[in-house]
Amino acid sequence: MKINGTSYRSVWVDPEDGWSVRIFDQTRLPWSVDILQLTTWEAAAHAIRSMQVRGAPLIGAVAAYGVALAMRADPTSLDRVLPALNATRPTAINLRWALDRQRAALHNLPVEARAEAAYAEAAAIADDDAETCQRIGENGLPLLAEVAARKGKVNVLTHCNAGWLATVDWGTALAPIYMAHDAGHDVHVWVDETRPRNQGAALTAFELGAHGVPHTVIADNAGGHLMQHGDVDLCIVGTDRVTRQGDVANKIGTYLKALAARDNGIPFWVALPHSTLDWRVRDGVAEIPIEERSGAEVTELTGRTADGRIETVRVVAEGSAAANPAFDVTPARLVTGLITERGRCEASEAGLAAMYPEFAGQ
Ligand code: MRU
Repeated sequence: MKINGTSYRSVWVDPEDGWSVRIFDQTRLPWSVDILQLTTWEAAAHAIRSMQVRGAPLIGAVAAYGVALAMRADPTSLDRVLPALNATRPTAINLRWALDRQRAALHNLPVEARAEAAYAEAAAIADDDAETCQRIGENGLPLLAEVAARKGKVNVLTHCNAGWLATVDWGTALAPIYMAHDAGHDVHVWVDETRPRNQGAALTAFELGAHGVPHTVIADNAGGHLMQHGDVDLCIVGTDRVTRQGDVANKIGTYLKALAARDNGIPFWVALPHSTLDWRVRDGVAEIPIEERSGAEVTELTGRTADGRIETVRVVAEGSAAANPAFDVTPARLVTGLITERGRCEASEAGLAAMYPEFAGQ
């Protein structure tokens, strides 16, 4: 995707030195476009934990490059580094998926072969994600095109950021939106601000604006009202983990949007790559670990002042406690369907098994 006319992925190996890893510091977007250089696996772990990179597929890809950085520095460190990277964030299963791929690629290799193999595996994971997201876009596009053909325009509501900044390229929920816009459809996006960290207001709005997609940022609580008044044709969100029965973990607040969509008869679609499917887990509400983040993310807000400084201010009365569950689970019954790189399916074990027969026997 492009920023100021230059094409980027959200993670890449520095072409100058051929080994260090580059990312955008997403804690500074949209106010400042800062590219960071990661030279150690500890820096990659910090980037994931501090949310300099975030979004389920991207944290998997950055963790994979973290393994490559570790193997370059000390190829005997594999068994120590894998669990440390896996502990950086608990909810998105893509992290474990990428680290499992690195373990499988490396653990039987002689130590002197590990660094090169780890870079190759990280690159394969990144390429796989970019291609997968492009296919998700192609498979989601007809949903928007159908509404646009019928009504002349299509209003989509999305929550959090599931665009190219959350993946390696394209995004999941935003990929069909980009493709519909590029195909000439009149697409408008309602962007949930996504408190407490504002990934919608800061990142999704930034992405859509850079691509020229018409959009409007709304307070998280506005979606139900807009749905009641016919202003939303469909919802599309991303996900951090989908269980074998089709339950969906995503950014906190997703569940409430799915409830409002159901009450108003509005389709609620979830876009996912294969790396987000956790076949080992069935009941998402009971079994998916939900990240608890600092209450400071609720009591504080970050933004840019009129004179260009990035500042954080307190918005909650002194002394009040704050809780910050970062994700929730939308039960499969509220999900209209899943958009995958292989096509669209029902959010159910039968639907997923038909789409991914390699899991069905497990
Ligand atoms: O806490 P974040 O910003 O990592 O949460 C991201 C989301 O919830 C996204 O919707 C999800 O990872 C899907 S990204 C394609």
